Amino acid sequence: MVPVSALLLLATALCCSAANTSSNATSPAAAVTAADACSQLQSSLGTSMVQTQSSGPEYSIGANFAWSTFNDEENFQPTCIVFPNSTQDVQTAMKVIFQNGADYAVQAGGHSGMTGWNTVENGVLISFINMNSTSYDAECNTITLEPGIHWGDASSILQQYGVSPVGGRIATVGTGLLLGGGISYLSPAQGYAADNYVSLDVVLVNGTLVTATVDNEYSDLFKALKGGGNRFGIVTKYVVRAVDTGTEDEKRWFGGLFVYPNSSSEALLAALAHFIHDTIDPNAVLATTIRTTWEGDSSTEIELDAILVYNGTEAAFNQSFAEFLSIPFTSAAPQPLSYLDLLEAVTFPDGLGTLFAASALSGVPVNASIEQYLETYRLYNNFTENFASSTDIAFTLLDFSPVPQTQIQAGYEKGTNPIVPPLGSGGYHEILFQVTYLANVTQPPDNVEQGRQFWIDSAPSTPGLPFFLNEADANQQVLATYSGYDFLKEVYAKYDPTRFNVEHTQGPLGL
Ligand SMILES: Cc1cc2nc3c(=O)[nH]c(=O)nc-3n(C[C@H](O)[C@H](O)[C@H](O)COP(=O)(O)OP(=O)(O)OC[C@H]3O[C@@H](n4cnc5c(N)ncnc54)[C@H](O)[C@@H]3O)c2cc1C
Ligand SMILES: *[C@@H]1O[C@H](CO)[C@@H](O)[C@H](O)[C@H]1NC(C)=O
Ligand SMILES: *[C@@H]1O[C@H](CO)[C@@H](O)[C@H](O)[C@H]1NC(C)=O
Ligand SMILES: *[C@@H]1O[C@H](CO)[C@@H](O)[C@H](O)[C@H]1NC(C)=O
Ligand SMILES: *[C@@H]1O[C@H](CO)[C@@H](O)[C@H](O)[C@H]1NC(C)=O
Ligand SMILES: *[C@@H]1O[C@H](CO)[C@@H](O)[C@H](O)[C@H]1NC(C)=O
Ligand SMILES: *[C@@H]1O[C@H](CO)[C@@H](O)[C@H](O)[C@H]1NC(C)=O
Ligand SMILES: *[C@@H]1O[C@H](CO)[C@@H](O)[C@H](O)[C@H]1NC(C)=O
Ligand SMILES: *[C@@H]1O[C@H](CO)[C@@H](O)[C@H](O)[C@H]1NC(C)=O
Ligand SMILES: *[C@@H]1O[C@H](CO)[C@@H](O)[C@H](O)[C@H]1NC(C)=O
Ligand SMILES: *[C@@H]1O[C@H](CO)[C@@H](O)[C@H](O)[C@H]1NC(C)=O
Ligand SMILES: *[C@@H]1O[C@H](CO)[C@@H](O)[C@H](O)[C@H]1NC(C)=O
Repeated sequence: MVPVSALLLLATALCCSAANTSSNATSPAAAVTAADACSQLQSSLGTSMVQTQSSGPEYSIGANFAWSTFNDEENFQPTCIVFPNSTQDVQTAMKVIFQNGADYAVQAGGHSGMTGWNTVENGVLISFINMNSTSYDAECNTITLEPGIHWGDASSILQQYGVSPVGGRIATVGTGLLLGGGISYLSPAQGYAADNYVSLDVVLVNGTLVTATVDNEYSDLFKALKGGGNRFGIVTKYVVRAVDTGTEDEKRWFGGLFVYPNSSSEALLAALAHFIHDTIDPNAVLATTIRTTWEGDSSTEIELDAILVYNGTEAAFNQSFAEFLSIPFTSAAPQPLSYLDLLEAVTFPDGLGTLFAASALSGVPVNASIEQYLETYRLYNNFTENFASSTDIAFTLLDFSPVPQTQIQAGYEKGTNPIVPPLGSGGYHEILFQVTYLANVTQPPDNVEQGRQFWIDSAPSTPGLPFFLNEADANQQVLATYSGYDFLKEVYAKYDPTRFNVEHTQGPLGL
């Protein structure tokens, strides 16, 4: 097994508009509308499936399931929570929500870093806790996922068949990852996670169910759901390609976690730029996280964690990662790994409030881009030194997720997605700046928000590259960075002509 000491995260940034991070204030009219919708839902679906704060034992489980505590019951109290058992239940819920004009939200694995996206005040929350099955169809070589499953559970159930979906790098994350594209350890070979869709059952905003595939009449919706987030409908079933990842005892990957000291930071950042510029081998997989932790007194500790793995032999690993291996590191124990070992290599604490922000950097031209990687880190250090303090913050991260040219190409080959730039423009890193607050902090303090905003406004990003929706700030105009932005606007207007979703739920800006 890989050492489990590290916190690692994977994410990105954008140039971002000035937006408003405060969650919606309570509106008396919305409260009445939601209460009407909830009592109708209790009549049609029953009081065990539709629970209010006073009525049901699962309400508080649903209201406190979110990973970021900024989304828990202390901050958001949905008027009721619907726990559907089937697609039909979701259709019933959306019809009632739509007809009443109620606010609503959807929660799957709960790992959104956006405050207010997976929960709602004065509205209906649809929680997928009870729809969490997975299965493998050997004949079609496909995997079916219900939205409530988590990637580690899916991969451990499916490992007996030697297959896995292209999903998250951390076991506890959920299927909402797919709707933001999704970056996996399998992505260099297979594309963004969403590039591996086969078919999607989608409940449109008015409750109508459609099944979308790459070549049926809903192919536009199918493509929009590869990155458009929660705006296009509620996916109640994902059928995705199965990838041959091997069983537990077939340890096909070699590598693990390399921990570097801060004195290696400049060399490591240069190695990241070289990697994304030069690497064309989809078997070489990299994920890098710089972590700053506050000690009890206001001193900080910086650690640089790189997951370096190769689908193949130790000799090929040594060759692919030669530059990384030449940089002085503090600890490493590279070894043969199964796919599930990879998902368990890193764990993340929960029970803390967290915010994300994104940028994106290419590796072209290589020397100029190294300067931008260094500048990104300099701005990060300016934040940790001047805005953050041990009375507010548990830790911060600067995280680099490579999107190599082979990943972009795989997306084109599998039917294209709305995210990626044209083929031939080179690979890039999606960059995440994450701030995780102490457990007693329920609202991010203004001065810290100002420092975070300064990073968002100042961090360099390569023009033309997409930001990563899964790891951005709620106010960043992520969809506007996509090559398929105009396409998304057209598809949204077609499937939600009254703009109900944009007006009644939080999600990506720009539609
Ligand atoms: C510790 C950690 C590790 C991560 N690692 C990765 C990683 O390796 N790769 C990566 O790509 N991302 C990663 N992420 C980001 C992650 O993909 C996003 O946070 C993603 O939104 C989480 O999905 P979820 O189902 O867990 O979250 P949720 O908060 O439940 O959902 C996220 C969003 O999608 C919407 N949504 C969810 N399900 C549906 C549905 N069925 N229909 C319509 N809308 C829906 C929700 O309303 C919400 O807006 C990580 C995040 C964390 C916190
Ligand atoms: C943000 O929204 C809140 C509540 O809707 C409002 O009071 C506040 O003025 C807004 N702030 C900005 C900067 O627009
Ligand atoms: C929904 O499924 C859960 C879990 O399987 C079960 O406990 C519950 O009784 C079901 N609810 C309804 C209303 O069918
Ligand atoms: C589904 O959720 C239930 C209740 O939380 C849990 O016991 C079960 O293990 C989950 N199943 C899967 C496949 O994750
Ligand atoms: C690992 O590499 C082998 C040989 O190049 C390839 O056939 C296989 O598909 C790869 N597996 C994954 C999961 O990428
Ligand atoms: C970490 O390294 C960077 C770049 O060399 C430097 O600017 C910064 O001061 C260092 N931080 C600490 C705490 O040593
Ligand atoms: C890989 O490199 C390590 C040292 O970095 C060395 O100990 C090991 O023998 C090398 N393995 C192979 C197969 O070359
Ligand atoms: C990039 O920088 C390296 C090291 O400073 C230098 O050797 C190389 O010539 C530069 N390459 C270009 C294209 O400028
Ligand atoms: C949170 O706890 C820290 C001590 O751990 C304290 O300094 C700080 O003031 C507390 N913050 C809030 C908002 O209560
Ligand atoms: C550090 O951040 C502050 C706060 O926004 C900003 O005013 C200052 O210019 C930054 N310093 C540098 C060197 O980037
Ligand atoms: C629901 O919306 C879709 C897309 O706008 C539309 O085609 C369909 O007719 C609507 N269904 C109902 C029952 O209104
Ligand atoms: C949030 O507030 C805005 C402006 O008041 C409103 O248009 C929107 O419907 C509200 N959304 C939610 C989910 O409460």
